[in-house]
Amino acid sequence: QLVLAAIDANGAISDTRALVLPGQAQPATSSEDQITILGALNSLLSREMITYETHEVITHALTPEGAQIASEGSHEARVWSVLPEKGKGAPITPVELKRCVGDETAKVGQGRAFKNGWIGKEGDGLVKLVTDISDTTKNDMQEIASTGTLKTGEKVLADLRKRKLISQRKGQWFTVNKGSNFSTSTAKPETSLTADMLTSGAWKTSTFKKYNFDAEGVPTNGGALHPLLKVREEIRNIFLEMGFAEMPTSSFVESGFWCFDALFVPQQHPARDLQDTFYLSDPQKSLPPEPEYYKRVSTVHEHGGFGSVGYRVPWSHDESSKLLLRTHTTASSAHMLYKLAAKCRGETVEGDEGEFTHGARSTTSLGPDNDDGFRPAKLFSIDRVFRNETMDATHLAEFHQVEGVVADRGLTLADLIGFMRAFFKKMGIDQVRFKPAYNPYTEPSLEIFAFHPMLNKWVEIGNSGMFRPEMLEPMGFPKDVRVHGWGLSLERPTMIRYGINNIRTLVGHKVPIDNIENSPAVMF
Ligand code: PHE
Repeated sequence: QLVLAAIDANGAISDTRALVLPGQAQPATSSEDQITILGALNSLLSREMITYETHEVITHALTPEGAQIASEGSHEARVWSVLPEKGKGAPITPVELKRCVGDETAKVGQGRAFKNGWIGKEGDGLVKLVTDISDTTKNDMQEIASTGTLKTGEKVLADLRKRKLISQRKGQWFTVNKGSNFSTSTAKPETSLTADMLTSGAWKTSTFKKYNFDAEGVPTNGGALHPLLKVREEIRNIFLEMGFAEMPTSSFVESGFWCFDALFVPQQHPARDLQDTFYLSDPQKSLPPEPEYYKRVSTVHEHGGFGSVGYRVPWSHDESSKLLLRTHTTASSAHMLYKLAAKCRGETVEGDEGEFTHGARSTTSLGPDNDDGFRPAKLFSIDRVFRNETMDATHLAEFHQVEGVVADRGLTLADLIGFMRAFFKKMGIDQVRFKPAYNPYTEPSLEIFAFHPMLNKWVEIGNSGMFRPEMLEPMGFPKDVRVHGWGLSLERPTMIRYGINNIRTLVGHKVPIDNIENSPAVMF
């Protein structure tokens, strides 16, 4: 209130040492007083009612000896005061003097009193030579006690310091100006604008607390996306922007027929072993597939057809109907391709015209007269698959597969390679190589390798190929329709991208939650 009133009266305070604090007679020159004022200044500053500048000064404080001098007089004055005036009484001997004023005062005081000409010798004793003295040291001490300094200046101060009567201290004083919220009222500023204030008009005269933009916010406790889901979204967007439609992949349980037979995987293939595939114990068998398609598939396996000699091994219905956890999303692709070929089989398809063919464009047009029902399609899926693996740092019994499938007339291997180059480039992988490989359902087949700059070597990232006629033609696709596809895991690129070297910190029950929340993959 004092500070605000002073500013209000004079526009500013040029020196806070001139203020007179409540209950005090003297201006607030001591450093204690300035500390009191500083407290008030900071509280007004936080409300932007004032601004202030700090100035540093050296002040002086009395030592205990100096304080004694201020109250009782200097040693020399004390010595002088106990002596009789010359010729007016018995002189006092040095021994008696020590008894009167104490050893220290007698010793120091005698010398100074002589020097000042205040006292003299008479016989063996000491007497006053003057009737009046001016005790400058005492006066200086009192001046320093109240002002922190001496008007007479630094020379005397230095002498007093040398005599250890005063000590130096750093002090502060302030100049104060009006702040943006200056007011003479110290009423608490409002923290919110209420409906009442609006209707009563009180808002016009209220002072409002400023927002503190430097305050740290309360940490948000919202959810965080799993890095795997982030990368999944990224890959999904690449597919969508390349005109692909997403396949439904919710059926984790498939039959041997759709997971393997429809893909022309021989019934004796090692991938179908218990060591590699999880089979269901209850129920164990699937419902039968559509009988004519089933017949065409079993025939191409057992006896061949469509230009193939087949595997020439007796067909096992038991093997085909076993229920299992799908080992690849190509099982879902098989369902979708079969559905895509429905019109080619002469079936009437209701309502889902264009369901898979969104954005796709045929490279060849047959014309309306000989329309064989085929529509080109670009399909993709990203979902979970299961394999009976020995688990280690890079293998789990389940992982996610990314799969792309393109169906059109006259596609070539160059189309597949070109598509994959474009696809991986969009994922940030510029350097890809292809190596001939084997898949039961594709011919030719290519393994995909990418150059890993951090590992400085080529790593396998996926598998691809042109689906075999033994798979496509029993579905009913015309002979000139080619389908190519590629698959990769979602975990591999995620681990490479975010430098994760143990898959268990990415997937499963051992994933550390804070790892997920703080992962840069989640933030960006
Ligand atoms: N199904 C293959 C795998 O699991 C990937 C693939 C998909 C290969 C499509 C060729 C065509 O690795």
